[in-house]
Amino acid sequence: MTPLSSDALGAKYLRTRAEAERALALLALEKNTAVLDIGTGKGYFAIALAQKGLSVTTGEPLEDDGLYARQPWRDDARLMEVDDRIEFQSFNAAKMPFDNDYFAAVFFFGVLHHIAEQERQPSLSEAYRITKKGGAIVIFEPTKTMLEELWQRDPDHPEAADPDLYRPQDLKPAQRFAGETMDMMIYRKT
Ligand SMILES: C[S@@+](CC[C@H](N)C(=O)[O-])C[C@H]1O[C@@H](n2cnc3c(N)ncnc32)[C@H](O)[C@@H]1O
Repeated sequence: MTPLSSDALGAKYLRTRAEAERALALLALEKNTAVLDIGTGKGYFAIALAQKGLSVTTGEPLEDDGLYARQPWRDDARLMEVDDRIEFQSFNAAKMPFDNDYFAAVFFFGVLHHIAEQERQPSLSEAYRITKKGGAIVIFEPTKTMLEELWQRDPDHPEAADPDLYRPQDLKPAQRFAGETMDMMIYRKT
């Protein structure tokens, strides 16, 4: 069989995969570690995590019929041959169906600003609850450059959100890593 080209999903996927690699370089997770990707969307971040050998759960609210939900991401996961590494479960981040201290890392990639304002604080509390001690919550939010690009296609796209405004008391302020298109914020559960 011809080996699958790593750029089969295009430049936007590669950009997302580079962001995933930026996070994983700091987290040092072992292969097959269970991680959660909140806000499936096109599935790019989940696919990138799965390509790195992680065991990925991903989800978004069942009732979300907005522009960014219900995408045919499963086809892309099959194309990249990581379908069996990604489990989908619908949920609202403000109340998630997972046990306490379950995931080694919980990711929000381009998602926090799409969560309704009143649900952002509960969502980060939930992320904290389901993250293992010693684990991390990693949040990517768009930079101004990225927002300008997004507003061309979707003038109603929300502004980026600052996760520190919604973080649970037990978490220290995020470590911040500026990027060209996405800023990355990391919380550690100690
Ligand atoms: C722009 S997409 C995220 C992009 C995606 N991470 C990717 O890699 O392609 C925004 C996502 O946030 C999800 N979302 C919005 N509100 C949510 C909530 N309360 N809980 C979980 N996901 C939510 C949407 O359903 C959608 O899947």
